[in-house]
Amino acid sequence: MSPKLKTGIVGLGILGRQYVETLLPHPDVQLVALCDVRPQVLGEFAATTGAATYTDLDEMLRGQSLDLVVVATPDHLHRAPVMAAIQAGVPNIIEEKPLATTLTDARTIFDAVEQQKTRLFINYANRAMPLDLATYYVVQQQLIGRPVYAESRLDDNISVPRNLWGSRSKEFAGGSSTAHFLLSHVVDLLLWTFAPARVTDVYAFSQEVVLGYTPDLYDAFLTFDSGLKVRVKAEWIKHMDQIVEFYTSITGVDGTVIYNKLPGFGVQKSWRANFSGSQATSQSLQQHQEALGGRGVIVRSAQHYHTRTDEFDQSTVNFSLEHLGPDNSNGMMLIPRMLASIAEETLTPSNWQGWGTLPTHLDGLRQVEVVQAIIHSAQKGEPVSLVI
Ligand SMILES: NC(=O)c1ccc[n+]([C@@H]2O[C@H](COP(=O)([O-])OP(=O)(O)OC[C@H]3O[C@@H](n4cnc5c(N)ncnc54)[C@H](O)[C@@H]3O)[C@@H](O)[C@H]2O)c1
Repeated sequence: MSPKLKTGIVGLGILGRQYVETLLPHPDVQLVALCDVRPQVLGEFAATTGAATYTDLDEMLRGQSLDLVVVATPDHLHRAPVMAAIQAGVPNIIEEKPLATTLTDARTIFDAVEQQKTRLFINYANRAMPLDLATYYVVQQQLIGRPVYAESRLDDNISVPRNLWGSRSKEFAGGSSTAHFLLSHVVDLLLWTFAPARVTDVYAFSQEVVLGYTPDLYDAFLTFDSGLKVRVKAEWIKHMDQIVEFYTSITGVDGTVIYNKLPGFGVQKSWRANFSGSQATSQSLQQHQEALGGRGVIVRSAQHYHTRTDEFDQSTVNFSLEHLGPDNSNGMMLIPRMLASIAEETLTPSNWQGWGTLPTHLDGLRQVEVVQAIIHSAQKGEPVSLVI
């Protein structure tokens, strides 16, 4: 049996707690060190984990020989702990998204990872959620044909920038933005779903009316190298029931995916891909349903009739794959895949087959480049081209 990964976590806030709960019981992990600049958050974890606690990361890195460091500090405070871990020779790092909040920080981390040959994963958690995997499958199998337009909206309740991090909310939200905190997820999902794909042009606007210490929203139009056009939007000023709303639709030449991932008022959680292409038959969709089910993604093939004129006939049949109701998503679903990646020394470990490679520093840099172009375009009020 291979030895367990001696692991330290930096940042014991909302996400840090989830990492403790995920890593503590994992058979390949020995959680030995925890670090947070706020000593008051460490006490509880020290008692439940038995790990050594530190308020100073350098002390933790000097005192422990770690195989893996998890960085879950606020968005604008990723660079220092990630660079410290790289420079201390830690071979494996799992970093919360985004890689960084500036291009300079992102490139500095990227270059250091390349130089030191560190393995750095970014937890773009949505990539492992079952219905995002279903979207990836449908697009990559070309079941909706060539994608031509998509729309993705990810909004937080206004209570997030105002209260989620208690008295630190203003500092967290001010150091980040809806572009870094929310569109980082959306942009990565798009780059992964449509891979190989690059964004060539961005036109965006922003607004600062309500919050004052961080932009209220970003609304952006992205053009991909394939010609695909995508609108992405993230607000931090919505007065709504839920903490988060997340909606995506993708239209291809031969079909459309509609995904109410985190639904808003009056909407049910649901995922549906409608197909009109000649290869979409009930038999072929049954095979795709089975292929996805074999990989733990539960959708069902269905036929729907819709009225275009006054009558129903064959031309109005929609062949579909769909999922209604809850699924078993959570933000830690990529982590066991990353641990397997370390053990098996590959970005496509045995528990991550058929979904591309696990997200690394390169994916992190690509995502930051697009988010920075969105911010830059909104500031200038002009379109921005990305050099690719
Ligand atoms: N909150 C969410 O819903 C959510 C979801 C997905 C991803 N994330 C990402 O996870 C990361 C952490 O977010 P969070 O909500 O857990 O934040 P948080 O503020 O709750 O936790 C961050 C912790 O890091 C500590 N910290 C700050 N600087 C430090 C340093 N130099 N050394 C050690 N500890 C330090 C803070 O004291 C705090 O306890 C962010 O990048 C965020 O985008 C958050």
